[in-house]
Amino acid sequence: MSSTSSQHDGTPIDRFLRLVDLVTPTSLRVAATLRLVDHMAAGAHTPQDLARATGTDAGALHRLVRHLTAVGVFEESAPGRFGPTELGLLLADDHPLQQRSWLALDQIIGRADLAFTQLLEAVKTGRPSYEALYGRPFWDDLSANPELGESFDALMATEEEAVDEGFIATYDWSGVRHVLDVGGAPGGLIQSIVRTLPGVRGTLLDLPSPADRARAKIAQRGLADRIDVIGGDFFDELPVTADLVLLSMVLLNWQDDEARRILKRCRDALEPGGTLILRERAEPSTDATTSTADLHFSLLDMRMLVFLGGRVRTTAEWSELAASAGLAITSLVTPITSPVVPFDFCLIEMTPVD
Ligand SMILES: C[S@@+](CC[C@H](N)C(=O)[O-])C[C@H]1O[C@@H](n2cnc3c(N)ncnc32)[C@H](O)[C@@H]1O
Repeated sequence: MSSTSSQHDGTPIDRFLRLVDLVTPTSLRVAATLRLVDHMAAGAHTPQDLARATGTDAGALHRLVRHLTAVGVFEESAPGRFGPTELGLLLADDHPLQQRSWLALDQIIGRADLAFTQLLEAVKTGRPSYEALYGRPFWDDLSANPELGESFDALMATEEEAVDEGFIATYDWSGVRHVLDVGGAPGGLIQSIVRTLPGVRGTLLDLPSPADRARAKIAQRGLADRIDVIGGDFFDELPVTADLVLLSMVLLNWQDDEARRILKRCRDALEPGGTLILRERAEPSTDATTSTADLHFSLLDMRMLVFLGGRVRTTAEWSELAASAGLAITSLVTPITSPVVPFDFCLIEMTPVD
């Protein structure tokens, strides 16, 4: 049964209590932070053993485990002995979907999710509450804290090869010689592009810290002669031109005025006859049976509001934004589904309007 259909089960008050509950989301984040499932896999099954392994209070930990058992994440196989259910196994550190890393409070998304406690302010002002909570904007916080930056790189790279292959296969790259990937760290997509298309060279531009990390990874993989990496700011004039400029999962981080400024910088970096392509999250379908995709759209959209003041856009909003930056949409491929991530992407091609 999918998570969305289960939200429709039970009496209205059951459904309502599941929706309003902050206990379970925070308990899951604590379990992820403490790596409870990995400790269980290593043989710690009682609250006492788990408390010893995690340096926590055995009584309080028992209560946490008991709640997560009540919601189906753990099961009690014998009195006082706990292990993960199929659902709980998603919290194993080596699970390919990396849910533990998305939730852990010492990693960037778990940290950023805590800014939802300030959602009221974001709704009142339209401004991100991350900055209000942590004293600096999301990207500045990442730059100032290399460990958080590395955790962000790792999350961006989750299952990226399979996702990138699907994206690359949907576009006709014939005639493309030089791809400028703007905001392209950690660099998985541009590496996949040059590996798939032997005649193409790449340039990746990102903020200095992520650019340094991407440069090191690209060199390690032997692609330094095919991909230049530049530390810079996409609100400034871009330092190189290209016949294809790529913005992958970047504009959703920004409100319209900022997104327009980035688009204009990209348009100005196009060589004559050049093309801009965007990879973004696909808009929800109007088909009622695809409510899971719709849920992922609004979940990400709310995170963009709270973390960054950004937004996930519909096709109509993309058309308006493109026009306001002197661009027109020339092709739109949507949805691009992936076998490994539970949401869809779209590819939007834009060219300058004279
Ligand atoms: C959501 S990530 C997307 C990364 C990558 N393109 C992908 O598809 O996985 C957004 C990227 O924008 C970069 N970024 C944020 N502000 C920037 C700026 N002012 N100039 C250049 N890059 C920036 C971030 O460092 C990050 O790598």
